[in-house]
Order: sequence, then structure tokens, then C-alpha cells
Amino acid sequence: MAPKWVWPVIVLGALVSAAILGLAINARMSKHTQPRMDFIPGMDHQQKYLPQAANPAFADGRAMRPVAPGTVARGELKAGDHFYRGRIGNAWAEEFPMDLDRELLERGQDRYNIYCATCHGYSGYGNGMSVSTEAGSVLIPSNYHDQRLRSEPVGSLFNTITNGARSMAAYAPQIPERDRWAIAAYIRALQRSRQAFPDDVPDDKKDALR
Ligand code: HEC
Repeated sequence: MAPKWVWPVIVLGALVSAAILGLAINARMSKHTQPRMDFIPGMDHQQKYLPQAANPAFADGRAMRPVAPGTVARGELKAGDHFYRGRIGNAWAEEFPMDLDRELLERGQDRYNIYCATCHGYSGYGNGMSVSTEAGSVLIPSNYHDQRLRSEPVGSLFNTITNGARSMAAYAPQIPERDRWAIAAYIRALQRSRQAFPDDVPDDKKDALR
């Protein structure tokens, strides 16, 4: 026979456990305006300056310090005017900074069809899908077969892709340098293809012309 106090203790224990469980469930399911209790703060609350905060330690009162002049982020040096800016000295480069091969041209075609053809058209006449003259479009993309663009130095073409031109946006944020050169090479191929002569066709392919 168990002593008399056993049953009250068991019942009380069960009630207390149920109450604790209920509180925990309630705390978990309900919404609070205060953050939860922080028994072990760890590194939750540290003294620090948040972005845009003021800091009286500096003469200009800014906690965020400007980078020292001439700072270059790792891998961002972009040394080499020809490859990165399309320039040689003070002039636009007339030459490509890399060898042109089929692989580069195919890469250029691929990128051109993705990024440029919507406006400039697959053949470069400036009549891409998104240019609807019927709807009175005011944004008329340039035609690459204009004499001015045919005789433009390739470095300047590279610069147009990099920085945009008048109402055309810059593509540097989306297209890395090598791909910009590949696109420029493909545009050169498009331009060449519109002024080809029978003599440009290799002899063994001439049959196809007849
Ligand atoms: C959203 C439409 C649009 C896209 C996409 C676009 N362009 Fe253009 N592009 C234009 C327009 C519009 C102009 C004419 C800008 C003007 O005269 O104000 C232009 C002009 C140009 C010119 C002539 C600039 C000059 O010197 O007069 C070149 C070269 C050119 N684009 C190349 C490209 C290349 C390469 C791409 C792809 C990387 C591209 N464009 C993507 C709309 C576009």
C-alpha cells in the first residue's frame, strides 16, 4: 500500500507538467510584440556601428569609411586598355585583342542572339522583334550596315556594348569582356556578309551559288 501523499503528488505533477506544456505551446503559436527571452545572449548584442550610422570619432562624422583613393578590389584591376576598354593609347583599337577563330565567332553569335537580336535583329538591320514601327516605336536601333558603323573601329563597337550609346543601355553588367569581343567579332561577320562578292566564296563552294 503506497503512502497517502503519493497520489496528490502524482496528480499535482501531472497538472504542473500540463501547464508548462500549455505555456510552451502558447508561446510558440501566439504572436508577440517583444522579442523572446534571451537567457544566453551569446554574441546577440554587440556594440558596433551599423551601416549609415554616425561615429563622432571621425572628423566627417561617418561610421562607414570611404575606401582609400586608388583601392582596387581583388581580381578587379582590369589592367590592359585594349582588352578592357577597347583603347590603344588615346584611340579606339582597330584590332581585336585576341585571335579570331570559329569558336569565338560561334560564341559571339550565341551571345548576340541572346542579348542584341531582340532589338537589332538577327541580321543586324535594327528590325528586331521588339521594335514595332507599327506601334509607333520611338526606339529605333541602329542598323549595323550603315557606312558609319561599318567603318567604326572595333574598339568603339566594344565600347558601345560596354557603356551603351545614347538611348541604348550598357551591357557591361551582363556580358563579360571576352563575350563582348566575341559579339563585336560576330557583328563584323554580319557586316561582311552583307557586302560579300562571288570571289569571297571558296572555289569548292561556288557550285552552291549557281
Ligand atoms: C533594347 C533594345 C536594344 C538592345 C537589346 C541592344 N541595342 Fe544596340 N541600340 C539600340 C538603340 C535604340 C540604338 C540607337 C541609340 C540611339 O541612336 O539613340 C542602338 C545602337 C547601337 C549601336 C550603334 C551605336 C552608335 O555608335 O551609334 C551599336 C553598335 C549597338 N547598338 C550594338 C548593340 C549590341 C552589340 C547589343 C547586344 C549586346 C545591343 N546593341 C543591344 C537598342 C538596343
